[in-house]
Amino acid sequence: MSSNVAIEIKDLRKKYEDKIAVDGINLEIYKGECFGLLGPNGAGKTTAMKMMYCSALITSGELYILGLNAKKNAREIKSRIGVVPQEDGLDPDFTVLENLLVYATYNNIPKEEAHLRSQSLLRLMRLDEYQDRSVETLSGGMKRRLAIARGLINSPDVVFLDEPTTGLDPQARIWIWDFFKHLKSEKSTIILTTHYMEEAEQMCDRVAIMDEGKILVIGKPRDLIAELIGKEVVEFDTNPVDLNYYLGRLRAEGFAYQVIKNTVSILVKESQDGRQAINLIASDKIFIRKPTLNDVFLKLAGHQLRDE
Ligand SMILES: Nc1ncnc2c1ncn2[C@@H]1O[C@H](COP(=O)(O)OP(=O)(O)OP(=O)(O)O)[C@@H](O)[C@H]1O
Ligand SMILES: [Mg+2]
Repeated sequence: MSSNVAIEIKDLRKKYEDKIAVDGINLEIYKGECFGLLGPNGAGKTTAMKMMYCSALITSGELYILGLNAKKNAREIKSRIGVVPQEDGLDPDFTVLENLLVYATYNNIPKEEAHLRSQSLLRLMRLDEYQDRSVETLSGGMKRRLAIARGLINSPDVVFLDEPTTGLDPQARIWIWDFFKHLKSEKSTIILTTHYMEEAEQMCDRVAIMDEGKILVIGKPRDLIAELIGKEVVEFDTNPVDLNYYLGRLRAEGFAYQVIKNTVSILVKESQDGRQAINLIASDKIFIRKPTLNDVFLKLAGHQLRDE
């Protein structure tokens, strides 16, 4: 394995009784990159991540973290990674600070060092003034931030964050993003899951979109957008009667589109002219916008919306 690879995954599978949660994924994640695992609920993101951070047994396939075999070297891997699970798992009987200190002892961090790191992480997560509060009295967003601080107590080389910003207010999300940028500047490798496509687009160097245990695409957000959507999206609302007429005309003119309920999004490719699409539509409410990773997500994994 080359030295710039942090995580190498070959044909990885996880089966729970009769459910295949991860169905043969292949992936290389590079050192220093922020990698996003995206996909609808139940796609297998958490399960894939749990195998990576050695908390779920591998059914079959190969998985190496920092050159170490996840099937044989789980203990050593765990000492070099940080984990922020989807369920926080904080200890409600302890204070904010104690939650960090207890975790530091699991990681054999000397007491003085543990205090210094805890204080600095609490400051970064804007929790310093709550350090003596019992975890039970924290809001959901504060707990999330404390779980992030806890996951970083061992100054890990690789950090796994399962939906780190779910449920956070806009301001707290910006703190977390700043914090990711800080981690990236320190050359940490970050693997995160998120349901916020604008967050993935901004924060992730590359993303994988998963569905039903499989990886559908891997790439840089802007490359996926350019390849799968195009240069712009022309959007209009129609009614069930006119819909088929419009779709027929768009097809005849070579335009790709996606339809969600009564909204048609025309995906204008680099080689096409958006004005030609607009001329096909008899509506005074036409929106033209930049394509986003959300369009890619809906195209690949939005079948539940379309099948309704
Ligand atoms: N411990 C378990 N036992 C049985 N089935 C499980 C278990 N954990 C997950 N699954 C199943 O595996 C599939 C993938 O679940 P997973 O939690 O990995 O999805 P996810 O992509 O993280 O979803 P979400 O976006 O909702 O967090 C789902 O069908 C889920 O019901
Ligand atoms: Mg999950």
